[in-house]
Amino acid sequence: VCCSGSLPVASQSSQSTMTGANPVTVAGTERSSEWSGDAIRRRFLDFYAARGHKILPSSSLVPDDPTVFLTIAGMLQFKPIFLGKEPRRVPCATTSQKCIRTNDIENVGRTSRHQTFFEMLGNFSFGDYFKKDAIKWAWELTTKEYGLPPERLWISVFEDDDEAFSIWLNEVGVPKERIKRMGEDDNFWTSGATGPCGPCSEMYYDFHPERGSLNADLNDDSRFIEFYNLVFMQYNKNDDGSLEPLKQKNIDTGMGLERMARILQNVPNNYETDLIFPIMEKAASMALVSYSKADNAMRTNLKVIGDHMRAVVYLISDGVIPSNIGRGYVVRRLIRRVVRTGRLIGMRGDGHENSEGAFLPSLAETVISLSSEIDPDVESRRKSILGELQREELRFVQTLGRGEKLLDELLDEALGSAGDIGDKPCLSGKDVFLLYDTYGFPIEITAEIASERGVTIDMKGFDIEMENQRKQSQAAHNVIKLSVGNETEIIKSIPDTEFLGYESLFATAVVKGILINGNPVENVSEGTDVEILLDRTPFYAESGGQVGDNGFLYVYGEEGGKQNAVIEIKDVQKSLGNIFVHKGTIKQGSVEVGKKIDAAVDGKLRQGAKAHHTATHLLQSALKSVIGSETSQAGSLVAFDRLRFDFSFHRPLTEKELLEIESLVNQWISDATHLETNVMALQDAKNAGATAMFGEKYGEQVRVVEVPGVSMELCGGTHVSNTAEIRGFKIISEQGIASGVRRIEAVAGDAFVEYVCSRDNYMRHLCSSLKVKAEDVNSRVETIVEELRTARNEASSLRSKIAVLKAASLASKAVLVEPHNDPS
Ligand code: ALA
Repeated sequence: VCCSGSLPVASQSSQSTMTGANPVTVAGTERSSEWSGDAIRRRFLDFYAARGHKILPSSSLVPDDPTVFLTIAGMLQFKPIFLGKEPRRVPCATTSQKCIRTNDIENVGRTSRHQTFFEMLGNFSFGDYFKKDAIKWAWELTTKEYGLPPERLWISVFEDDDEAFSIWLNEVGVPKERIKRMGEDDNFWTSGATGPCGPCSEMYYDFHPERGSLNADLNDDSRFIEFYNLVFMQYNKNDDGSLEPLKQKNIDTGMGLERMARILQNVPNNYETDLIFPIMEKAASMALVSYSKADNAMRTNLKVIGDHMRAVVYLISDGVIPSNIGRGYVVRRLIRRVVRTGRLIGMRGDGHENSEGAFLPSLAETVISLSSEIDPDVESRRKSILGELQREELRFVQTLGRGEKLLDELLDEALGSAGDIGDKPCLSGKDVFLLYDTYGFPIEITAEIASERGVTIDMKGFDIEMENQRKQSQAAHNVIKLSVGNETEIIKSIPDTEFLGYESLFATAVVKGILINGNPVENVSEGTDVEILLDRTPFYAESGGQVGDNGFLYVYGEEGGKQNAVIEIKDVQKSLGNIFVHKGTIKQGSVEVGKKIDAAVDGKLRQGAKAHHTATHLLQSALKSVIGSETSQAGSLVAFDRLRFDFSFHRPLTEKELLEIESLVNQWISDATHLETNVMALQDAKNAGATAMFGEKYGEQVRVVEVPGVSMELCGGTHVSNTAEIRGFKIISEQGIASGVRRIEAVAGDAFVEYVCSRDNYMRHLCSSLKVKAEDVNSRVETIVEELRTARNEASSLRSKIAVLKAASLASKAVLVEPHNDPS
């Protein structure tokens, strides 16, 4: 097969029979599975290795270059060599490079060829060979090795590049009508706004030669696909846009592996190649559908899943963790698209170990099973990839539930009001921002769901909201000082911490900053008291009366390696609005900024905080029902082992009232009611009757914690999921703390049990000293007190009698003394 120069390739209209491992059928002839994706990659690398190129591994998707966000092309790892900043180690090299491009994300699955993750096969010359060899080899590889029919190949060259035109025409022998001169947009390649660049020449495959050469348009996707780009890299583009010739002339090329696989495997799109299709089949089986019987919409969804799953697995494998900023947001956005798409087509978890109903881990297994030739490291990172995906999916499912409900309402409103005034329905920028900011709803998903209902979104308005927020947080970051020690220090570049602690007590995070006495440092060693800033955390930071969590941060070496450091966290405070400052001591080892850590909250203490927090809500309801609804909260403390609740009231509570309050709360605890937590618009929460703290400032969206039938409060704290977890509630004291303000101290949860047990101990001691049963202690004590009083009275009357007697006896001893006569 490989060397037959005129291999017939069928038109693309034939239905694919390709599956992952099966051979491909092309025009009735079974083509050898030699043209699996792996085989195409290997042939490319071997071909150039045989021509003096060194085969080098793919570089990471996260480039070494701070000016570049993600690896978008094979040439990135060679950029310093092209620019002459680093010496070349070899004259020429060849790679298969993992790449990510997200600029066309909404076209993924909709067209036949757009992907986020793809592999770029490339051959590179660092001042060695140039145009002639690059062109000749590209032709030889394509026609002789891969066996594409020359008459199906079209060429484009940069409009001024006569040299390239003439090589194709005269030396390779491509007819003139199949060589097109094209402008800068198509045929001048730059790696970014600045950097190495040059004119390029591209090879196209023609799926419909029967349409003839007249008026053929290489940009017509229904007929052509561009599969190999040869860049004659000879300039550096400066900041001002000017082109400066490089010292040496280089070659940078890129062949889309999936595109070539699509051509050679004769399937109608890149997704149906063996590089992606097994993932789609896995998704289809988890949604109980069959790709071959599926309609177009379903197929598009499966393609999106197939494409995005590869991207997320390779990104996470290269150390990109889902988050709300930078590369982390790319992964998050892709994961969220997969989750949403998967749910749309009815995908369910298939019981993958510990997946808790998540379906990403199973899909990722398929991606990993295809990874060995692309990146052998992926398999070794399997466990952390699956864990990361599962956590992110479960978190997003929760977010989705809340956000989808709200979005539905907002869309109803938009459709309603547009209908009223005959306008095109549009979701306001404010609403889109609200969904994005408060619900973590990616804009693209909002746009997708909106467009499914015929509503557009106001992106301009969104950008304005986004910019406002950026300015506000910039201002906050610049002005507010982070006061965490003796010193204060301005921390500008630390992003807000993502709080994961509603769902989880454990998370993997990255150290974003380390402070000693408020001063940033890059690393710290054993024994030091520090404040650690993380990108995300399961630790609750003190707020709303609830104390910050305690626990540990662990730093590990390389994947699964030995434990490098242990940091004990004793308090967590919020700073600069939403940066969580974990305060603690390095118990062992040392830690640096940028390190990955495992953050583990002390679950027993957290459970104590939860029990006391929910008990505080119940206490407030009980107070209102016993002493009247006019009373309102004046403050509170929710600690691990006690609670304090301050409220407005004009007099001390009676014992009866206190008992009533206590027993109401205990009744609600034993009712074992499930709590509900929802995020909603402030106005909706108020309309629903939620209790808010007087004078407290709330955002437009609020979190509402409800014990159905008992209590509904605006609250950001952590709570038990069922009132039964509180175990019991006991008031310890009630007292006035200021004019019109009273304070109740109480215990719940484990602290309640401990309190009751220790009180019982006192009682037993008392019984044994008094030699009575517990129920007789009161009357016995009353009798004792009475006896004591009587005895005291008797004693005091005896004392008076004694005094009188003493006086009388003294009187009887008295003698009369004559006064002296004054001699004067
Ligand atoms: N760097 C070139 C491209 O990405 C080959 O198309």
